[in-house]
Amino acid sequence: MKLVIGADHGGYELKEDLKGYLAEKGYEVEDVGTFSTASCDYPDIAKAACAKIQSGECERGILICGTGVGISMAANKCKGIRAACCSDTFTARYTRMHNDANVLCFGGRVVGAGLARELVDAYLGETFQGGRHKVRVDKIMAIEAGTL
Ligand code: RB5
Repeated sequence: MKLVIGADHGGYELKEDLKGYLAEKGYEVEDVGTFSTASCDYPDIAKAACAKIQSGECERGILICGTGVGISMAANKCKGIRAACCSDTFTARYTRMHNDANVLCFGGRVVGAGLARELVDAYLGETFQGGRHKVRVDKIMAIEAGTL
């Protein structure tokens, strides 16, 4: 599976750690930045990462800012993106199983490197359950399309 990863300055260090971790696990990872701890704007990173999912180049994304909130808000403004900001493994698992989240977000100032790895494992290890959950996810997308 090809993943896209991105972070602002608040998530830069965690992004760098996770890139190596994901590569060791056999994932191909596209990094859309940021590439230093210099201050930058998380919407720019979210947009660049989501474009990789929208084009089909990457299947899922991992986005990190200071809290995980701003970058998830920005990602959720991108068409076709369902981004979930998670800081516990239960939510990270269920957002795949029930919400078909295609982007996982968290905060570099909220979670440590160990928990971040567990969040990623929980999220990437699950599949969408479909059924009644598909009906609900379809309604989310209908809101985006303006048909609900
Ligand atoms: C940047 O200082 C910070 O606001 C950003 O990383 C994020 O936490 C916003 O939600």
